Amino acid sequence: MHPSQARSARSIPIARPLISDEEKRRVLDVLESGMLVAGRQVAEFEQAFARYLGVPEAVATSSGTTALEVALEAAGIGKGDAVVTTPFTFVATSNAVLHVGARPVFVDVDPRTCNIDPQAVADAVRREKASAILCVHLYGLPCDMGALAQIAEQAGALLIEDCAQAHGAKVRGRPVGAFGRASIFSFYPSKNMTTGEGGMIVTGDPAVAARARVLVNVGQSTGEDYMYETIGYNYRMTNIAGAIGLAQLPRLDGWNEIRRTHAARFTTAFAALDWMMPPVEPAGYFHVYNQYTIRIPDRRQRFLSYLAEHRIGHRVYYPHLVPHSPAYRRLGFGGSYPVAEQLAAQVVSLPVHPALSDDDMDRIIDAVTRFPG
Ligand SMILES: Cc1ncc(COP(=O)(O)O)c(C=O)c1O
Repeated sequence: MHPSQARSARSIPIARPLISDEEKRRVLDVLESGMLVAGRQVAEFEQAFARYLGVPEAVATSSGTTALEVALEAAGIGKGDAVVTTPFTFVATSNAVLHVGARPVFVDVDPRTCNIDPQAVADAVRREKASAILCVHLYGLPCDMGALAQIAEQAGALLIEDCAQAHGAKVRGRPVGAFGRASIFSFYPSKNMTTGEGGMIVTGDPAVAARARVLVNVGQSTGEDYMYETIGYNYRMTNIAGAIGLAQLPRLDGWNEIRRTHAARFTTAFAALDWMMPPVEPAGYFHVYNQYTIRIPDRRQRFLSYLAEHRIGHRVYYPHLVPHSPAYRRLGFGGSYPVAEQLAAQVVSLPVHPALSDDDMDRIIDAVTRFPG
């Protein structure tokens, strides 16, 4: 496309939720029922989500962030505990560790997958006598769960999964979320499925699920109203969110297939471009491409400006490492993570979501392959 045409073209968003008449009908039903909270939609959504993953228990929350906090607390992580995690993630991951009174221990990531490096995890777990490993399946690609599960088991540490970006992702057929003592999902609108704001804790441990249910509901006993078992929170999901989730979940696998088809088209089209590295999907892994993230070892800034000129949505997830942010530096964090620092300087995410039309896909491929460098 000629630059003057590109400037007048419709802009292609980096993310866009798909909302059908089904979501509208279900939300309208909730509004007309007058039961906006504590109704059957949330319980049904929890059951449907647990069934989808093949896990025994799911507890809905108000967001992925609140799900993380409650998952850690319900799993018994708190004051004095060290939790090994990645510096290359959304800030909510390690904020939750701090909010429950524990201490994040950041370790570097693998340059190919952008996920936490198992060898670095093993070293840190041993050195810090860590109570838990909190892994993040970044961009929709699962972490090396075989290695992480083994490290956790040998050290007697808990494995907790942040699956906020990875609904439906799998390792050798097993869905992420089913490996950890507790795992969380986010339903923010940019995720593979949405409820507006919303989150979910999943677990195979009935005691963790029971504690999570009490914590999200102001610490109130499940047996008696206004009887408080613990100092809890109001982190409940609304019926409106639950109703949207019930309409979205049956379409998740289809949307993930579209994301994968888009990603495969990009990877084929970009194979000959020597100035960038497309994302990888190791054998046995099922990537759900919440983001299609390429690496550009130099000239990233020029590429970002070029995408803006062509009205192609893009984001840098993430330009800074969490422990290097002012909030974390003030708490004494910092440190050096050479691989993650390099990734932060090189990554760019392109639109890959299922709302892209064939024309959008053609425009993105055309623009990227013609980037003059
Ligand atoms: C890796 C990761 N963890 C946690 C969260 C927090 O989820 P939420 O935005 O629903 O609070 C997000 C998403 O925004 C995320 O990407």
